[in-house]
Amino acid sequence: MLKEQSTIVSGGLKILTEDDKAGCEMVKVTADEPAADKKKLFIESYGCQMNFSDSEIVASVMRNAGFATTSSEDDADLIFLNTCAIRDNAEQKVRNRLKALNTLKKKRPGLLIGVLGCMAERLKAKLLEEEKMVDIVTGPDAYRELPNLVDEAESGQKAVNVLLSREETYADISPIRLNSNGVTAFISIMRGCNNMCSFCVVPFTRGRERSRDPFSIVKEAGDLFDQGYREVTLLGQNVDSYRWKPAEGTAGESVGFAGLLEMVALVHPDLRVRFSTSHPKDITDDVLYTMKKYGNICNYIHLPAQSGNSRILKLMNRTYDREWYLGKIDRIREILGEDCGISHDMISGFCSETEEEHRDSLTLMEYARFDYGYMFSYSERPGSPAAKKVAVDGPDDGKKRRLVEIIDLQQQLSLERNRQAVGKIHKVLVEGPSKRSEEQLQGRNDQNKVVVFPKEHYRKGDYVYVQVTECTAATLIGVAVQEEAVIA
Ligand code: SAH
Ligand code: SF4
Ligand code: F3S
Repeated sequence: MLKEQSTIVSGGLKILTEDDKAGCEMVKVTADEPAADKKKLFIESYGCQMNFSDSEIVASVMRNAGFATTSSEDDADLIFLNTCAIRDNAEQKVRNRLKALNTLKKKRPGLLIGVLGCMAERLKAKLLEEEKMVDIVTGPDAYRELPNLVDEAESGQKAVNVLLSREETYADISPIRLNSNGVTAFISIMRGCNNMCSFCVVPFTRGRERSRDPFSIVKEAGDLFDQGYREVTLLGQNVDSYRWKPAEGTAGESVGFAGLLEMVALVHPDLRVRFSTSHPKDITDDVLYTMKKYGNICNYIHLPAQSGNSRILKLMNRTYDREWYLGKIDRIREILGEDCGISHDMISGFCSETEEEHRDSLTLMEYARFDYGYMFSYSERPGSPAAKKVAVDGPDDGKKRRLVEIIDLQQQLSLERNRQAVGKIHKVLVEGPSKRSEEQLQGRNDQNKVVVFPKEHYRKGDYVYVQVTECTAATLIGVAVQEEAVIA
């Protein structure tokens, strides 16, 4: 195992605004490897967990090509920015970062700079014209080609590969776990997205949906468990539409998401399983019953709503309406109980949204009693169906104010939900010291809530029973207890 070192630059709060989470969180995904005679690579990731997971694939591809990763950009021969295009401000962050890197490059002319990921895919070769310091542009399906592209760039040519694939899942590439706490890890189970939510660039930047071989997923989960990891999160833009079919002429049955969840849950009862993201149109009772059946599948679902109004949902092309969404919430609570953690994504001020329609989003949130949420004001993306077809983007002040109302309500709901957890005993998987103090440990309970408690003799990777004594809207606070009774 590599000695891993990381710097998390932002993120961590449960309630995030458009400046955080997908799109603007940035993590330097790096690790120092002993590398006296090797060229050094520094990777920085923006955007969603899938991008972070991709950076681990990129590190693996580059290591096989003779590069070592470094945590210092001053030390690097090659810098990759793995970028996000989900909202305009996500792209602006990358542009600002490129400006800073330009200064570095002027001091060290041999330094090569590559832009990877969704912004690279969206802008393609145009990015080279707009940002002169960039040497390499690579889309999310072309990472195997990176060593060749770097060779090209070293010979003085600009190098671009933004081809999307219908098959690429990087199933055979063993990711290098970077920026890791050694306890929790992400596993990509699929790539791309076949939905066409009208506001979204992802179908254009990540291409068609494809599912990864379930046996390679189970093997990865098993290897992680053997290395001491105790939680895996299965990642996809729409995990409920996971479907893997054996190649034509080969034996075996096709596997859907409920089947995959079960296969991963069976890896080991002490390996927690989470997943993200569920789409309200696709999540099935089968998935909910599989969650109920296995204690190690966490009682938590991220179910983006995007809006609480049926007309807006139709304009967004989400293919469900308010009643359908609320029906799914009822079903989750019915099968998995009131305690099941539910989080959401919400967009404020989508094209032509009226005040009344905005209030529908607020009442949907109240009905669902979400534990937390990721909330954004609508950002029109060039080329997206909404930019092309839907009525004009709304006024900015309305969007911002509506977003504040949505965030304020979520704060209240989070606090209410957390208060219900006070007084109960929770099984917590310890992820490391708390952000505020080395004397406190931090982990998460089944419902994905952050729990902080005094360290005593406990260590990272332990399962600890914690009696929660107080809370904020973002955190549960408690003390470790011996007994395993009455687990919330
Ligand atoms: N596949 C996931 C979401 C991926 S993007 C899903 O279907 O829910 C993460 C979140 O970013 C989305 O859920 C949405 O809330 C937000 N988002 C996407 N495009 C956006 C845009 N153009 N403006 C504002 N928020 C956006
Ligand atoms: Fe975007 Fe919709 Fe696909 Fe999610 S399901 S990635 S919001 S198009
Ligand atoms: Fe951003 Fe691409 Fe993820 S646009 S949110 S990095 S899929």
